[in-house]
Amino acid sequence: MLLQAVVCVLCLFAGTQGQGGATFWRGNDRSGRCQYSFTVDSPTEASCATVGGGPEVETLRSRLTVLEALVSRLVGGETGSRSGPAPPPGLQNAYREVMGEKAQLQREKDRLERQVQELQQRMEDLRQEAERLRSRPCAQPARPGSPQQNSSLQPASGESAPIRSGSPDPPREDRSSISDPAWHYGSPGYQELKAEVTEVPAPEETTGCGELVVVGDPVTHRKADSISGKYGVWMQDPEPMAPYAPDTVWRIDTVGADIRQIFGYEDLDQLSRGFPTKVLLLPEAVESTGAVLYRGSLYYQRRRSRTLLRYDLASESIAARRDLPHAGFHGQFPYSWGGYTDIDLAVDEQGLWAIYSTNKAKGAIVVSQLNPHSLEVERSWETNIRKTSVANAFMICGQLYTVASYTALNTTINYTYDTATGRGKEISVPFRNRYRYNSMIDYNPVNRQLFAWDNYHMVSYTVKLGRMQTP
Ligand SMILES: *[C@@H]1O[C@H](CO)[C@@H](O)[C@H](O)[C@H]1NC(C)=O
Ligand SMILES: *[C@@H]1O[C@H](CO)[C@@H](O)[C@H](O)[C@H]1NC(C)=O
Ligand SMILES: *[C@@H]1O[C@H](CO)[C@@H](O)[C@H](O)[C@H]1NC(C)=O
Repeated sequence: MLLQAVVCVLCLFAGTQGQGGATFWRGNDRSGRCQYSFTVDSPTEASCATVGGGPEVETLRSRLTVLEALVSRLVGGETGSRSGPAPPPGLQNAYREVMGEKAQLQREKDRLERQVQELQQRMEDLRQEAERLRSRPCAQPARPGSPQQNSSLQPASGESAPIRSGSPDPPREDRSSISDPAWHYGSPGYQELKAEVTEVPAPEETTGCGELVVVGDPVTHRKADSISGKYGVWMQDPEPMAPYAPDTVWRIDTVGADIRQIFGYEDLDQLSRGFPTKVLLLPEAVESTGAVLYRGSLYYQRRRSRTLLRYDLASESIAARRDLPHAGFHGQFPYSWGGYTDIDLAVDEQGLWAIYSTNKAKGAIVVSQLNPHSLEVERSWETNIRKTSVANAFMICGQLYTVASYTALNTTINYTYDTATGRGKEISVPFRNRYRYNSMIDYNPVNRQLFAWDNYHMVSYTVKLGRMQTP
């Protein structure tokens, strides 16, 4: 207001300097405020007759003001002014967002449809390829699959073998193609190969047992594509059973209240591409990231219980169930990141283990060796490390190892407990959490790797063991 007045006064002075066509006019506006108006004719307009009386101008001005207000409301997007009061701006924003999301979803749907088409095309190609390979006479009848198995058995090779990847048919056919006599794992060809492979990478102590000395840098295999994959568990069965192969990779996304889906992938390569060949629906929900695969079964903790289940992959049914005596569950003794990681199963060279705690142990880590068939506890050890103080734990050669942090980029494995001697000690083996939220770490004794799930990412680490300590 003051500024307006000053401007007007300045204009007034300018006006009194006296240019030919300048006019000055004073009057009240509709609200009765005093208003000064000052007009300078432009050279071209100077010939126009000046607008006459003040009252007409005033009327025009007020009508203009009303019009302006109307226009600004209309331009401001308040279309509702035509049909009653405009909706509040919050609602409009929400509406705009919803429309935006709808468009986004439509695009996503289109994209997925294209992907489905591509996948169908790909499956058709693969089926034809498989057909072609099957009808071809076999060049090496004694070991028909050796070149593929050779390369695909290399840890983390990432290579997909031509014939193997040729069978992601629909589940029904899948079974029959995997159980093709050429692929029978009990066959002499396979046994022979297996023996050979365990011998091939044996420059150092890679076959014997020893203490963990080095963990390599993480290798990323896959990033989960939705929030349900922020945490999870993935693994290979160190001792698989038909119809599944050593290369088969299993994956469970564990965010959610009712986790029942387990995805099977032909090999690491297919996992990286995100093409599962098998989806199994578990009859009882999974709790957290403690599950393992061993000898053709998925071992897991049933949701909200201390019940361990053995789910047989071949028959797709529960083969054994048993409570883990006194084990804390559902948030009683989790790892430091939480996530209901109270009971963590593990597999190593010596079999199946459970890492957990009990009230009697007052939260200290208890390690129990389990009978893989019946799930009975065979023997237990009590450490003096609090379970809630460690980020994760795994077993190698009968020794428990604990990781200090699940978020630090560079952390250490700083404690180990040897079940052979019943003694624990501090160690310091560097360990990287590349994505800074490591929710699962498990050891695979066959390819000597740690498998981990770090903030949506499925990663693996190679490990090196020191010299054998006990023969
Ligand atoms: C695997 O294949 C490579 C080359 O293809 C060969 O040098 C090696 O001896 C093979 N190993 C086995 C176990 O067949
Ligand atoms: C391992 O590291 C964690 C975090 O730095 C620490 O709290 C814990 O005391 C360490 N444990 C041992 C056994 O040194
Ligand atoms: C972590 O360790 C790697 C090598 O092991 C080093 O290059 C990097 O700088 C370290 N990062 C931090 C944050 O300490």
